[in-house]
Amino acid sequence: MTPTTRPRRLRHNPRLRALVRETTVRPTDLIAPIFVTHQRGEPRPIGSMPGVSQWPVELVAREAEAIARSGVTAVLLFGIPEQKNATGSDAWSETGVVQRAIREIKQAVPELVVIADLCLCEYTDHGHCGVVNGTVGKADPRLPEGYVLNDPTLEIYGRIAVVQARAGADVIAPSGMMDGMVAAIRGALDGAAYDHLPIMSYSVKYASGFYGPFRDAAQGAPKFGDRATHQMDPGNRREAVREHALDVAEGADILMVKPALAYLDVIRETRDRFPELPLAAYNVSGEYAMVKAAAQNGWVDERRVVLEILTAMRRAGADLIITYHAKDAAQWLSQPGRP
Ligand code: PBG
Repeated sequence: MTPTTRPRRLRHNPRLRALVRETTVRPTDLIAPIFVTHQRGEPRPIGSMPGVSQWPVELVAREAEAIARSGVTAVLLFGIPEQKNATGSDAWSETGVVQRAIREIKQAVPELVVIADLCLCEYTDHGHCGVVNGTVGKADPRLPEGYVLNDPTLEIYGRIAVVQARAGADVIAPSGMMDGMVAAIRGALDGAAYDHLPIMSYSVKYASGFYGPFRDAAQGAPKFGDRATHQMDPGNRREAVREHALDVAEGADILMVKPALAYLDVIRETRDRFPELPLAAYNVSGEYAMVKAAAQNGWVDERRVVLEILTAMRRAGADLIITYHAKDAAQWLSQPGRP
């Protein structure tokens, strides 16, 4: 029997396909991460992330301008400080590496949305995201050695947020997965008259092997232990709902799921359960590195798989995508005649 319902009728040519396409990616959906280093000189390429470099503060405006020219409208900053110590004090110093970078970028490209990642792992000598039991003051005997202490860390997160705000950040993005971090940061910002600044919370962040290249890039790998006592277990989806709900109650303005590619079901669940809030997906360093490695070997068509991956994240329900492909993808998306 000849079929009368023929989905192929809508696939005849590119114009028709574009007309009925359900999901699109725009350059303005993308957020480009930038690594800023205290070191002077040339940008330093990151071996495990081809195409990504650490930018000296003095040159970071150049990279911000290139990103803006590509059509991407937001950046997310990570810093590599000169001094690391037990409390990560460069993170809340007025002259800390990220604070200086924010000022440089805001001066050069004022219209760019500057998002400050807020964590301690790049700034502590042990590479953990907070105050480690026994390293500052007296150890808490109820908790194991090496445990990241929750509430002492919150106090420092609040301080960092205010300093980042003062430097000119447009959005504060806490990534440390401490309980109560959004409330603590909201309180600190409001108390310093930054009640207008939004918080993009890394509300659901899994303990993931896909962060490997990032830990090279930001030099924030833990010297001992891991992050499994604060980041989420990869097997958990219902717990993601719990984490998001807490952050919503604490005043988060944008939610996030991280990583993205292996967690598309979590992105979908988040979109369905929290329809009222913008949702970001973090297309992390390991996801980037896999695509780059395969493309460099000629095993996949980079442009095609990158756009397919970004489309999949949007289709799963992400509004925004933080991605190291941002600049390239934005350029591809603005070229006429794309598939
Ligand atoms: C921690 C942080 C990490 C990433 C972003 N923020 C690393 C971690 O939790 O170990 C990973 C991002 C990526 O892999 O691209 N501040």
